[in-house]
Amino acid sequence: MSALTYKLIKKDSKNKARRGEITTPHGVIQTPVFMPVGTAAAVKAMRPEQVEELGAEIILSNTYHLYLRPGHEIVREAGGLHKFMNWNKPILTDSGGFQVFSLGDLRKITEEGVEFRSFIDGSKHMLTPEKSIEIQNALGSDIIMAFDECAPYPAGREYVKNSLERTTRWLKRCKEAHKDTERQALFGIMQGGMYPDLRKQSAEEITQFDLPGYAIGGLSVGEPKEEMCEILDYIDEWLPENKPRYLMGVGTPDYLFEGVERGVDMFDCVLPTRIARNGTAMTSSGVVNIKNAKYERDFTPLDHECDCYTCRNYSRAYLRHMFKSNEIMSSMLLSEHNLHFLVNTMKNMRKAIEEDRFSEYKREFYEKYGY
Ligand code: GUN
Ligand code: ZN
Repeated sequence: MSALTYKLIKKDSKNKARRGEITTPHGVIQTPVFMPVGTAAAVKAMRPEQVEELGAEIILSNTYHLYLRPGHEIVREAGGLHKFMNWNKPILTDSGGFQVFSLGDLRKITEEGVEFRSFIDGSKHMLTPEKSIEIQNALGSDIIMAFDECAPYPAGREYVKNSLERTTRWLKRCKEAHKDTERQALFGIMQGGMYPDLRKQSAEEITQFDLPGYAIGGLSVGEPKEEMCEILDYIDEWLPENKPRYLMGVGTPDYLFEGVERGVDMFDCVLPTRIARNGTAMTSSGVVNIKNAKYERDFTPLDHECDCYTCRNYSRAYLRHMFKSNEIMSSMLLSEHNLHFLVNTMKNMRKAIEEDRFSEYKREFYEKYGY
């Protein structure tokens, strides 16, 4: 047995949307799925029980952050990330590649890996494919990601070609370094910027490794939506049908719909929890800025179509008051609603695919949301 199996349950007959099921050592995940982000071993402002209750079946955490603090050896000593953070469902960890590349001047890329300075104390560190796998092995996540190089946007063809080819060489090193394939599933990451032929080359190279799943990296890096969709148009053709496909770092509702419509199965993003902390909610009738004075005496729920804990118990007026008073409760309640909203939207998408009406559901959602 391998650590992960994917079962394709049904395809929508009118587009490429697919309904599936992923089985991991810590349980089953219904796809398409949205994964809440718990960067530093916590989904910010949320207890794990709440994350589970709102319907999340898998969360994401970060190699880069946990390596720097508290250190992967401490997480190993604690009995692994699941036990350390009290989340017993599946966990996916990102490799640290994307995070160190975002450091700009604070890092140096070589064939060996990436040298960088800690965001905590400025100390020098080196992440390599082998080191990333070693850290993720210690964390014990169910799905681990290859150490890749994400090209910035925009980037020239030569730069992008070199970085995708390096990503393939690093994938080979990741696969060789990852021994316990029955406990953790290693996903490869496609790069290639906004060049369809380079994307195709990357897909051909990484799928040679016959891995349990594949991710699409290097998107949602500042490009217009049409450019991202142009690449996603091909993924159904380039990536194997019997393996999950994960679009990294995508989490606005429209991008989730565009991805699912083109055959993506997994998504993650900090967006729902990040905007919650600055007073923004996603609702069935669009974005709500709870700071707005017009909610001062609005005693109706944040979203009357939502049955989350926040919407069942609190008014917009109260949520606005919490935000204005800098109460921690504001982040807690808005994070819970936003995560529930995205997780529930994915659930609706899954049902729509089962009933062959994904496109109709997408149209209805866009109309109400105001896209
Ligand atoms: N998160 C968002 N985009 C990326 C990417 O291209 N690579 C990795 N490792 N993580 C990401
Ligand atoms: Zn709600």
